[in-house]
Amino acid sequence: MKGTRVMITGATNGIGLQLADTLLSMGATVYGTGRSSGKLQAIAESMAGRSGTFVPLLADHSDLSSVSAMLSSLSSHTDVLDIVVNNAGIHYGLPMQSMHKDTRSATNGMDTLFVTNYLSHVLITEKVLPMLNRSKMEKPRVVQVSSTYHWISDGSLLRPNGPLPPFASRGSELEKPFRQMHLSYGDSKLAQLLHMHAVNRMLEEESSKVAVVAFCPAWVGTGIQPEGVARQVTHALAHQPEQGIHALLHAALHPDISRGDFVGNTNVVSYLPFKEHWLISPFQFQGFHLRDNLIDTFAMLMMFVQKFNFGAFVQETSPESKDQELQDALHKWSLRAVSEWL
Ligand SMILES: NC(=O)c1ccc[n+]([C@@H]2O[C@H](COP(=O)([O-])OP(=O)(O)OC[C@H]3O[C@@H](n4cnc5c(N)ncnc54)[C@H](OP(=O)(O)O)[C@@H]3O)[C@@H](O)[C@H]2O)c1
Repeated sequence: MKGTRVMITGATNGIGLQLADTLLSMGATVYGTGRSSGKLQAIAESMAGRSGTFVPLLADHSDLSSVSAMLSSLSSHTDVLDIVVNNAGIHYGLPMQSMHKDTRSATNGMDTLFVTNYLSHVLITEKVLPMLNRSKMEKPRVVQVSSTYHWISDGSLLRPNGPLPPFASRGSELEKPFRQMHLSYGDSKLAQLLHMHAVNRMLEEESSKVAVVAFCPAWVGTGIQPEGVARQVTHALAHQPEQGIHALLHAALHPDISRGDFVGNTNVVSYLPFKEHWLISPFQFQGFHLRDNLIDTFAMLMMFVQKFNFGAFVQETSPESKDQELQDALHKWSLRAVSEWL
């Protein structure tokens, strides 16, 4: 990895931090983003003894102007990248919590989670493609850290509606009183896959060697689980970040991984029968999305099973992720949304 230049978003905790640590031990130069200058500084100091170099990049991914400033700073360090890992992400909380408390929020009028998980990475990907094209690697790539939870989104809230932006992107709480916190996450993770396919088709036309691929860690005990019992349970039962990056390294480095592959530490979900029917059903009881809690109960079971089905698997993605018309509609809208910074 000596001489390999890797950008990792959200490198200050969990999966991103573990990946940075591992790649630095292997000699890579890691450009790591984070929203806390204190955390970035502490990581730079603690990684100083590694054979690679850590370059801290301050960016709040919920704010596109902050991401744009970070990209300017990146270009003062390098004009070539080999691998970009779009990892920074948040979750609004457990479905059960949404019965009592809505933790969704808006930044600059847009949904904070949508911008953090998806739109900030659209801006980054579109801006760094020329840097990846200059790589000497045989297959430079972008890895979208997505999730199996993309299966819970039918994509309808990602479709722009005439002049109106996609519902999932809107920051006004009042506009979407029925939306569950969990579905916001699924929408953002499906959006990442739709963007991957749209960019890949463009790269194909340009005969570029760059590939966009995706990854799902399955359950890994990190900072994304809400504090309290949920975090304690997950941290006790799920994989540790060391195991959680197993298939991520495969997605980022293995020569056999192709454009559009969705690589996971487990492929348990691939065995679920008729998942395209029941995972995305809008089943509600008195306005309460019972479906979300059923899915989370099922996902808890997956936490046990993933230990017996661990490796690096190219997994199936939802039918919605392959909808070319939706890919193009969202891509076109997203490019307009970030155009100020392109
Ligand atoms: N853990 C799992 O079981 C799991 C499963 C499926 C998918 N994923 C995906 O894996 C990715 C990494 O999550 P994780 O599990 O490692 O969670 P994590 O421990 O919470 O790490 C998330 C990282 O993103 C950063 N981040 C969040 N919001 C940000 C913002 N506005 N600006 C800049 N940085 C921001 C965090 O920074 P701070 O250090 O400042 O918080 C942290 O470095 C996410 O995309 C998540 O959706 C995780």
